[in-house]
Amino acid sequence: MNKQVLLGVCGSIAAYKAADIARGLMREGLNVRVVMTTHAMQMIAPATFAALTGNPVLIDAFDEPVAGQIAHIQWAQEADLILIAPATAHTLAKLAHGLADDMLTTLALATTAPLYIAPAMNPAMWSHPATQHNVQILTERGAQFIPPAFGIMACGDEGWGKLAEVEAIVQHVAGAVLCPKDLQEVRVLITAGPTYEPIDPVRFVGNRSSGKMGYAIAQAARERGAEVTLISGPVSLPAPAGVEVIFTQTADQMLTAVQSHFEACDVFVAAAAVADYKPAQPLSSKRKRDSKLWALEMVPNPDIVATVAAHKGNRYIVGFAAETDKVVENALHKLKKKGLDLIAANDVSAPGRGFEVDTNQLTLFFANGIARELPLMSKRETAHALWDAILEGRHAK
Ligand code: CTP
Repeated sequence: MNKQVLLGVCGSIAAYKAADIARGLMREGLNVRVVMTTHAMQMIAPATFAALTGNPVLIDAFDEPVAGQIAHIQWAQEADLILIAPATAHTLAKLAHGLADDMLTTLALATTAPLYIAPAMNPAMWSHPATQHNVQILTERGAQFIPPAFGIMACGDEGWGKLAEVEAIVQHVAGAVLCPKDLQEVRVLITAGPTYEPIDPVRFVGNRSSGKMGYAIAQAARERGAEVTLISGPVSLPAPAGVEVIFTQTADQMLTAVQSHFEACDVFVAAAAVADYKPAQPLSSKRKRDSKLWALEMVPNPDIVATVAAHKGNRYIVGFAAETDKVVENALHKLKKKGLDLIAANDVSAPGRGFEVDTNQLTLFFANGIARELPLMSKRETAHALWDAILEGRHAK
């Protein structure tokens, strides 16, 4: 039987986009059941969703389309995932506090399926402390937000509040619901993002890593059922739902955090772009500008992955090699030198790969000499392909 997505539609102006979301999810092979709030009916008719999905549309908590069935329990139990898109500030507040005064909020309480929320509202309403507090409550409870984008609203205001791109929502949800749950009981440790090495209290040596690849790897592992700890350098990304995130600044701090979680992991993925050098003597007060030459003395940082891999036992260790030339040669050298089981190499000089972008193209090298070239795809798809390879590698080890 096809997987079921329960699509909750609220009364935001973006409600019309929910029709495309429903179609997109169906195109991915999912069965979609729509639940609307009464306010959503001001924006789009239930008949649209009924015609598109081939399923009845529920609104009131007492709607019972099939005689002898209690719809809110039946639909709640049959759902593999519940997506609320667009979600209004009012519905977020109700969800955060467990209110159940319509079919959507009743279903959200009655289901144990993962909850995905794509909000859309005026920027002032989104940034209001009440809304942000509700988002925090829901996030802590495991809800996964697909955050709103920046743009001009229907009211003319500009800011964060636009519904995320329809295709991004569809891919996110379809990926989560369709991916295999083959990492259950696997404990995963991941490093991501850059490290910042202080020069003085206001300056640092860093790099262009956005953390997107490492965060996508953490999210994919979580979706597949793993218990995930993410040691993150400074990035501006939302924490993936259900993942324990520990923030660090410097390579030394990252090493300490990794060492204290390494014992309890089965797989370690080192995706961080660790600064290779740090200022030898960071200044305790800000250096003032003058006209003299400033030579900064740098000392090497510890190699985090090599340090822990030296005592890896039967843990599976994965590293990255971001290269600009001699990609294969350098990657194979790092695989061996750092004691890795698998290395994911990418040519960061080629377009659409590596730092700051949303796509990546990796070539995987296993310790047994086998290589696999992955196509250029989203970091999310790349993350899932990497987990496929890690599982194969662990199995063969
Ligand atoms: N790495 C690490 N600690 C460091 C440097 C790198 O854990 N101090 C990890 C990275 O997370 C990555 C792998 O080692 O998984 C390779 O990182 P990369 O920067 O490509 O390699 P380096 O050893 O720094 O070599 P170079 O910069 O000379 O290419």
